[in-house]
Amino acid sequence: METTPPLLVLLLHGLLGLSMALSVHGKVGENTNLTRESFPPGFVFGTASSAYQVEGNANKYGRGPCIWDTFLMHPGTTPDNATANVTVDEYHRYMDDVDNMVRVGFDAYRFSISWSRIFPSGVGKINKDGVDYYHRLIDYMLANKITPYVVLHHFDLPQVLQDQYNGWLSPRIVYVLCSLA
Ligand SMILES: *[C@@H]1O[C@H](CO)[C@@H](O)[C@H](O)[C@H]1NC(C)=O
Ligand SMILES: *[C@@H]1O[C@H](CO)[C@@H](O)[C@H](O)[C@H]1NC(C)=O
Ligand SMILES: *[C@@H]1O[C@H](CO)[C@@H](O)[C@H](O)[C@H]1NC(C)=O
Repeated sequence: METTPPLLVLLLHGLLGLSMALSVHGKVGENTNLTRESFPPGFVFGTASSAYQVEGNANKYGRGPCIWDTFLMHPGTTPDNATANVTVDEYHRYMDDVDNMVRVGFDAYRFSISWSRIFPSGVGKINKDGVDYYHRLIDYMLANKITPYVVLHHFDLPQVLQDQYNGWLSPRIVYVLCSLA
């Protein structure tokens, strides 16, 4: 089972960005007169998240369990025994989030789709609530000129696929991922 916490990955992105900023543009806080024009044409400014970190509502709106839900059932796994039940509730507050992206001046938002929100059982029957949610999110982003960068899988494999054939350890995963795509 994948155990790298998505939070850590995002943290690493942040640290990498910070150290690059340090090495290229001097000390933090120093006035470097850095503007958008300092970057090459086509450079995309964006922000990123993973579904499990930000959507909340892990057990709601028809979403099926993923390996992270199982992992977090063991007390002590996360600080304060935190779960994905609420998080920052992007499922309901996506408009606020996108509004903030516009305010900050981002061009793009790289988010992930919760596989088990679309296919609660990994394959087969589609959960319409899940599909509708991503439509709402993407439509609102496009209306606000935030380009969607969609990641199909960010560590939150449907538990049922893990149980059936060890998830990513089996070549069968390729076919089910294709059906998600
Ligand atoms: C920023 O721009 C101002 C005005 O052009 C200039 O005086 C200053 O030296 C610049 N600062 C840096 C760190 O380049
Ligand atoms: C997490 O859950 C365990 C088991 O229920 C409990 O012993 C522990 O105190 C909890 N930790 C926190 C920070 O609430
Ligand atoms: C999260 O939701 C599950 C399922 O509804 C529930 O069993 C669990 O107690 C909730 N955890 C917290 C911390 O609210």
